[in-house]
Amino acid sequence: MKSQKEELGTIRGMRDLVGTDATVFEHIVQCLTKVVKNYGYHRIETPILEYTSVFARTLGETTDVVSKEMFSFNDRSNKHVSLRPEGTASIVRALLTNKLTQTLPQRWFYYGPMFRYDRPQKGRYRQFYQFGIECLGVKSPLADVEAIAAAYAVFQALYISDFQLRINSVGDAASRKQYRAKLVDYFSRYKSELSEDSQRRLTTNPLRILDSKEACDQKIAQNAPSIFNSLTPEALVFFEQVLEGLSALNIPFQQDRLLVRGLDYYDHTTFEITTKLDGKDDSIALVGGGRYNGLVKQMGGPSIPAVGWAFGLDRLMLALTSHIPTPSQIAVLFVSDAEKYPALQLANHLRSKLSIPVLFPTDGDFMKRLKYSNKLGVSCVLIVGEDEVAKRSIKCKFFRAVGAFTSGQEISLAHSDITTLLFPLFNAG
Ligand code: HAM
Repeated sequence: MKSQKEELGTIRGMRDLVGTDATVFEHIVQCLTKVVKNYGYHRIETPILEYTSVFARTLGETTDVVSKEMFSFNDRSNKHVSLRPEGTASIVRALLTNKLTQTLPQRWFYYGPMFRYDRPQKGRYRQFYQFGIECLGVKSPLADVEAIAAAYAVFQALYISDFQLRINSVGDAASRKQYRAKLVDYFSRYKSELSEDSQRRLTTNPLRILDSKEACDQKIAQNAPSIFNSLTPEALVFFEQVLEGLSALNIPFQQDRLLVRGLDYYDHTTFEITTKLDGKDDSIALVGGGRYNGLVKQMGGPSIPAVGWAFGLDRLMLALTSHIPTPSQIAVLFVSDAEKYPALQLANHLRSKLSIPVLFPTDGDFMKRLKYSNKLGVSCVLIVGEDEVAKRSIKCKFFRAVGAFTSGQEISLAHSDITTLLFPLFNAG
């Protein structure tokens, strides 16, 4: 029998975003949206549930995400479906489904819940949120530079200064073929010391060993041969141009030859921006991405180069320590029931004609509603009493300093002056 707690609680690794968390989430999404729109990206929305095949081969059968972490099940017509563990494969599927391969480039941004059945801990959830961009149909290394610059701009927009950009190249297919042979040779020498998973990876996908979370694998990976000696001349030039572009924009980066990332579709550039939370030693990735020139073809389309990234919004929320701006708000209060309709009309006028966010407390007597408004943190209350209705005016009481007005100040305002005074102070823009 299921316990009451199990039936009515949240599922492990999934949580509600309530109160400040919800406000911070909204603020972050707004900031990201503004930044990526400046880089020419447009919104795309894809389903949360897809056929499992959209993810299985594309992300890599031997990756942790596919082999251990997918929420997969058969639907009522016995189709094998999965909750999306990430956005890129769905976006490529959408490009093909909507027959947009002739209308390139496409620059899309998306955000929403993703699902991975991983061990939950701080900054790692089973339902988590990503905000991503995908630039499809652009082969120049400048597209990688621009994508990374957009991620960098997000940190500036959110006033997060403590972070590090790590970058690598996993080369093109020819580079990886050469590199794979060298890795097999190297790791075979330490086979018995590798984790069970990595011993398997030795035959299935040796690059994955570099990305292992197991300490025993990480120790051996430290001295593994570098991919740089296996890069083809074209792959090397491409990578150098990405680094040159970042330097031209004064974006500091650190090269990390072990950064292969946890998904199989990458080639050429891979990058992550990491931070340390609460002074902890381990860094956590806030955003990860790279180039994936082979993915569209692998999914049955033509050969289309692409690059993108995704931020983990839950982690960005943890990293955000600075003040979150709360918009100044107004409350409109009627003194007695006789003024409730003039007050209601005033509140509606401010919202619809002046686009000012307005609260209209309705329950309890005047004093109760006044205290409630203050507690909610509004900057100013507009009071409509008997006198005000007679004189076609309102009384403004400032709870907090706004513009030239000080906290505690009270003024009387004629209806005809409402727009000139309140619009510049409170319009939501
Ligand atoms: P990813 O590195 O798997 O890449 O995920 C991107 C970001 O999502 C991570 O850096 C992290 O911040 C966040 N994230 C991942 N798993 C979790 C989790 N369990 N809990 C909380 N946050 C998590 C991708 O998903 C690629 N699709 C990115 C990309 C887009 N590459 C090219 N285009």
